Amino acid sequence: MTDQTITSVSRESRVFKPSAEFKAQANLGSEAAYKRLYAESVNSPARFWGRQAKDFLTWRKPFSQTLQWKTPHAKWFTGGMLNAAENCLDRHLGTARENKAAIIFEGEPGDIRTLTYKQLHREVCKFANVLESLGLRKGERAAIYMPMVPEAAVAMLACARLGVVHTVIFGGFSSEAIKDRINDCNAKLVITADGGWRRGKIVELKESVDRALSSSPSVEHVVVLKRTGNTVAMQEGRDLWWHELMAAAPAVHKAKPLPSEHPLFILYTSGSTGKPKGVLHTTAGYLLGATMTTHYVFDVKETDIYWCTADIGWITGHSYVVYGPLSAGATVLMYEGAPNQPAPDRFWEIIDRHGVTIFYTAPTAIRSFMRWGDEYLAKHSLASLRLLGSVGEPINPEAWMWYHKMVGKKRCPIVDTWWQTETGAIMVTPLPGVTPTKPGSCARPFFGVVPKILDENGKEVRRGEGGKLFLTQPWPSMLRTLWGDDSRFKKQYWSEVPGLYFAGDGARFDKDGYLWVVGRIDDVLNVSGHRIGTAEVESALVSHPAVAEAAAVGRPDELKGQALVCFVTLKGNQTASDELKDQLRAHVAKEIGAIARPDALRFAAALPKTRSGKIMRRILKEIAAGGDVKGDITTLEDFNVVASLQSEE
Ligand code: WT7
Repeated sequence: MTDQTITSVSRESRVFKPSAEFKAQANLGSEAAYKRLYAESVNSPARFWGRQAKDFLTWRKPFSQTLQWKTPHAKWFTGGMLNAAENCLDRHLGTARENKAAIIFEGEPGDIRTLTYKQLHREVCKFANVLESLGLRKGERAAIYMPMVPEAAVAMLACARLGVVHTVIFGGFSSEAIKDRINDCNAKLVITADGGWRRGKIVELKESVDRALSSSPSVEHVVVLKRTGNTVAMQEGRDLWWHELMAAAPAVHKAKPLPSEHPLFILYTSGSTGKPKGVLHTTAGYLLGATMTTHYVFDVKETDIYWCTADIGWITGHSYVVYGPLSAGATVLMYEGAPNQPAPDRFWEIIDRHGVTIFYTAPTAIRSFMRWGDEYLAKHSLASLRLLGSVGEPINPEAWMWYHKMVGKKRCPIVDTWWQTETGAIMVTPLPGVTPTKPGSCARPFFGVVPKILDENGKEVRRGEGGKLFLTQPWPSMLRTLWGDDSRFKKQYWSEVPGLYFAGDGARFDKDGYLWVVGRIDDVLNVSGHRIGTAEVESALVSHPAVAEAAAVGRPDELKGQALVCFVTLKGNQTASDELKDQLRAHVAKEIGAIARPDALRFAAALPKTRSGKIMRRILKEIAAGGDVKGDITTLEDFNVVASLQSEE
């Protein structure tokens, strides 16, 4: 992506001010308060974060030092001891929150279940005892591969209670992806289900786990939740039923006090090389980031019914379905299935049925709703909503306006929140009672966040110009390292400009200091809000016996943001056919998961390369987008390659 394209993004000039009514009740309701706190957070970070950590978290032992920073390694709140699950559960007991709903669950088939804080606590205590009885100890890893059901949160929190490090694997990932993740962190246990409901069909989770485990020697046991009731193979000695273990488990469990920097979870995400990165988050800093942003950005109140539509397999599900809202004592709505099952108004039906007040979703979902038609909204009142959020990719102004009018009825502030798996919590966002919003901009930095936009040479660009997005100050919920690969951590995030965190995004500031994020500028695509590494897709393709070489690029897509287009050259003895095309697309889905299935696949006689043999992805991107190849191609090795690619299809 060139600086020019970064700069040319959106000339949107509409501004929406928070209403007086919202402002008056907001957790933070004045510009002066934002300015004062922001200034303190960047000028006296130790004082600011020290106070927040005391206000927002419950400690077993107070910390002695707020931050030890030896670039790029941060240690926050050292000397302190606490437990994340205790913060999410135990501390609400014995208060008015005890019998309030912690989770309201709606399954795709329509089953509804509510767990109060007390009930959720009981389940988590029991499951923590189960984990202990299976020999899981502090610091060991457990993989969670589950549908969006309350037990997924129970499993996460039970791990946290013991200091067992969880790694949640998105239920849409394939057995290959499960295997890679389990083997990378040597998980001792897998927690899964017989299946989950999606579009009226059963997602066979257990079957995928079984396939993965044929080559995952570290796994001793698999705990299987009965969700769909379909028949699954249970391997004697290895596989155990959740309900049988739970029936025998005591309901009392004392959470383990853990040091602030004890690893809480590993979450794998795509990077610019083939191997997924195990982003490591630790206890206190992460929990503070998630809790505090839930309070200030989502303005959560005692009476809210809060719904973040993300799956727990993503960071958004970790921070804003589980840890943030439960630590803040909110009522979380959890929905298992697809947004259009049985009909395209399922989400609106859920909002009305449960009185959802805060709704947080992704632009790709919003664009689908727009396409499905306004008539599906007309049937529902949506009167309970008071705040809307967006995350995952830049939201286009048309989608923002539609969200504002059709869902928010022009009444609800929209928080467009920029952050990443690596940042753990929201970094750049409007504050709903304070910040005037502009459709398409994620507005201003949250407390303690200092974004800078730099050019190719690491020089700060002029305001209004585009460049690479960096964060210059450490923040509590930042990733600590990549699991087992600290050198990759340093190289990936801290070497573009030494000492600064490189986000991998292109962005610009406008004249008012509002941030406009354009999207990834590394070899990572954002397909429907999911991060997909082009290198991962390419290595999946070349692992197929017919493929000689492959290149994956993004193409702008109205619905998905970006669509995945692959160019493939075949081995000499192979012939191109539609059948092979389908086979290769299915092969990628099998290797990574359905989210990575190429939208288009094109056979090519050769790929455009530089004279030193590097694939020129820029050219392929232009071809994929259907445009002419522009810009400099003088380094291209063989000009005929481009001509033949353009003449195909
Ligand atoms: C990438 C991070 C943590 C959020 C879920 C995705 C893009 C995310 C926005 C936004 C523009 C956004 C960026 C970022 N992104 N939110 N509000 N505006 N872009 O987490 O998978 O770690 O992806 O998503 O490109 O780098 P992720």
